Order: sequence, then C-alpha cells, then structure tokens
Amino acid sequence: MKLLGISGSLRKGSYNTRLLEAAVGLMPEGAELTLIGCGEIPHYNKDLDTDNKPEAVLQLLQAVRYADGVLFATPEYNYSFPGVLKNAIDWASRPAYKSVLAGKPCAIISASPSLIGGARAQAHLAQVLAATLSPVVPAPPFLVPMVQDKFDAGGLLIDEDTKRRLARYMGDFVVWVDRLAGR
Ligand SMILES: Cc1cc2nc3c(=O)[nH]c(=O)nc-3n(C[C@H](O)[C@H](O)[C@H](O)COP(=O)(O)O)c2cc1C
Repeated sequence: MKLLGISGSLRKGSYNTRLLEAAVGLMPEGAELTLIGCGEIPHYNKDLDTDNKPEAVLQLLQAVRYADGVLFATPEYNYSFPGVLKNAIDWASRPAYKSVLAGKPCAIISASPSLIGGARAQAHLAQVLAATLSPVVPAPPFLVPMVQDKFDAGGLLIDEDTKRRLARYMGDFVVWVDRLAGR
C-alpha cells in the first residue's frame, strides 16, 4: 500500500512535517508513506488550471492519483488550517466531484504548542475534504498538544506515548484503506 503525506507547514523545522517523518518509520508492514511538499505550488488561478498546468501542480495531482490514501499533517493557524494546504487542495479538487481527491481515503494529524493540539484546524480540514468527496478515516483524532515537549532539539520524535498513538493511528488508517478497497 502506498500512502502520500502532505504537510501544511513550509517551515524548515516544522513539527507537523517532523510528525510525518516520524510516521514514515512507524508504518505497519506492507505500507509505505511518501512525503510531498506544497510550497512550490502557485496560488490557485483558474486561468492556470488548463491542460498545461504548472509543473508543481502536475506533480501533486500525479502523487495523489497514485496514492491509496492521503495523510495530511496540519498546523493550526488562527483556528484553521494554513492557506498553503487549502491552496494545494483547491488545485487537487478540480474537476469538482471527479478530481483525484474524490473518493480518496484521507487521514488528518496535527501538532501545536497549544493544549488542544490543532483540533480546530482538523475540524476545518475535515469540512473541506467533505467538499472534495474524500472520506476521512473514522478513528479518534490524532492530536499532538504541547508539541515542543515531544521532539528533541534535532527534530526527532522522542515522546513514547505520541509514538505509540501515531503507530496505532497509522495502523487504523491502513486497515481502513484496505477495507475500502475491498481487500
Ligand atoms: C499565523 C499563525 C497563527 C497561529 N495560530 C494558532 C492557532 O490558532 N492555534 C494554535 O494552536 N497555534 C497557532 N499558531 C502556532 C502554531 O501552532 C505553531 O507555530 C506550530 O509550531 C506551527 O506548526 P509547524 O511547527 O508545523 O510549522 C499559529 C502560528 C502562526 C504562525
């Protein structure tokens, strides 16, 4: 199984990107997680959304099309998820209801220094994924509150409880993707 991970943060030391990197090493056997950035994707402009799309958009569309499922790791910006991620989803959402995201199994994780770990960003993202007809894994939300305490200075996830929860979340996601695919 091939899953795609997309971080909503462009920051070099992003906790959310590091969380995705940690997830790569916690995948169950037989499943693989590949990461793609969305920093090179231009602002959505319908005039650019033609048969000759920008290269970064083509890469995103191809990566989503060939993935069995997509894992979003999102920061919370002002009670929502960042514009760069919304922008990537907007590009991937066309043509409406027939896009590469339509029917694509998705999962959402988030990390934040706050006590609620990005829960509001997750809620907004789930609402947007309803518009793209992308089902979201029916599992308890995976949130990392007070994230600054969970990684070491080198960006390694060191909190054992978070590691265990993340491994379980990825396992639940993989089982659900398999089930949706009728395997
Ligand atoms: C513009 C902006 C808005 C933010 N708003 C929130 C917020 O509403 N809730 C929250 O928990 N954290 C908020 N934060 C803090 C981020 O959660 C924190 O910077 C986090 O580390 C960003 O994720 P990253 O490490 O993956 O880049 C905000 C940060 C920025 C830059």
